[in-house]
Amino acid sequence: METIVGTDCEQARLLLEKGEVVAIPTETVYGLAANGLNESAVLKIFEAKGRPLNNPLILHFISKEAIQPFIIDFPPVLDKLATHFWPGPLTLLLEKSNLVPELITSGLDRVGVRVPSQTLVQELLQSLSFPLAAPSANLYGMISPTQATHVNNQLKGKIPYILDGGPCEDGIESTIIGLENEQVIVYRLGGISLEQISIVIGYIPQLKNHIENQPLTSGMVKHHYAPNTPFAYLESDFVFEEDKKDGFILLKDNRPEIPITQKYILSKTGDFKEAAQKLYAAMHHMDQKCFTRLYIEKFEEIGLGISMNDRLNRATKKFEE
Ligand code: TXA
Ligand code: MG
Repeated sequence: METIVGTDCEQARLLLEKGEVVAIPTETVYGLAANGLNESAVLKIFEAKGRPLNNPLILHFISKEAIQPFIIDFPPVLDKLATHFWPGPLTLLLEKSNLVPELITSGLDRVGVRVPSQTLVQELLQSLSFPLAAPSANLYGMISPTQATHVNNQLKGKIPYILDGGPCEDGIESTIIGLENEQVIVYRLGGISLEQISIVIGYIPQLKNHIENQPLTSGMVKHHYAPNTPFAYLESDFVFEEDKKDGFILLKDNRPEIPITQKYILSKTGDFKEAAQKLYAAMHHMDQKCFTRLYIEKFEEIGLGISMNDRLNRATKKFEE
């Protein structure tokens, strides 16, 4: 199959209406989208990604109002979060109605829903009569894409169209939230931090993304988001050795001894928002440079630093055993 990369929403709409899979830009990461109400179209997503069927998908809507027929109830505190953060990088787990296919939720009672803010995907959703089911547009277990070329590198030949909306503005997946015993629980940290949520709800929500032996979401699987090159944290006492041909991803340029060709600086000023936006792009870029090993600095555990460390813990874990 030929894969076309373009900016034509109309072409994307026609393919989606025919039950095809199309990669879409969002403000977080690129998604691999299909008609969320058409099971055979949704199956193509799992097939293209190589994703296990027991891993549920998020439904993307044009507005909060458009979600109503697909859920039983919108608890007030989640409604408040939605009003505050949508359109944007927040996914809510809400009790599903019968209109949501079982394949979307892998048989679970709750469906993940989100209203993205990226302008091209909003234009696309506006033109469709159904929500878009979309996981991140990477092969299962690999680094998530934040540019159309990242999608093309992994899925070329497997999907007909990639809607190119330029680099993703946030660069890290949505934060996933639900309720348990009336308490807000965060199942995956992402573009919205614990601090930001606590300002809206009045307390720091519990983070439950490390439940032992119970991967409720793929972000909970221990090995994930991983490059092919062996990947490890840069210890603070690390001494650079010229002959080793290692690559380094650094928050700021605080290692003048490392040559420019061997390092990727995420933000000259050390800004976490800029770092999150570039993190996956840095990993994709450095993974293609044939380094012996890749090293990355762990972020300070505040705000988006916690979300980024979560992804890096899983990406580095793959190479620890
Ligand atoms: O930012 C994002 O959320 C991106 C963009 C494309 O929207 N999507 C994304 O999808 O990251 P995915 O499938 O790569 O990650 C979504 C996570 C998965 O780990 C999945 O298991 C979990 O959300 N999830 C989806 N629906 C769920 C549900 N009903 N209950 C529990 N977890 C769910
Ligand atoms: Mg993913």
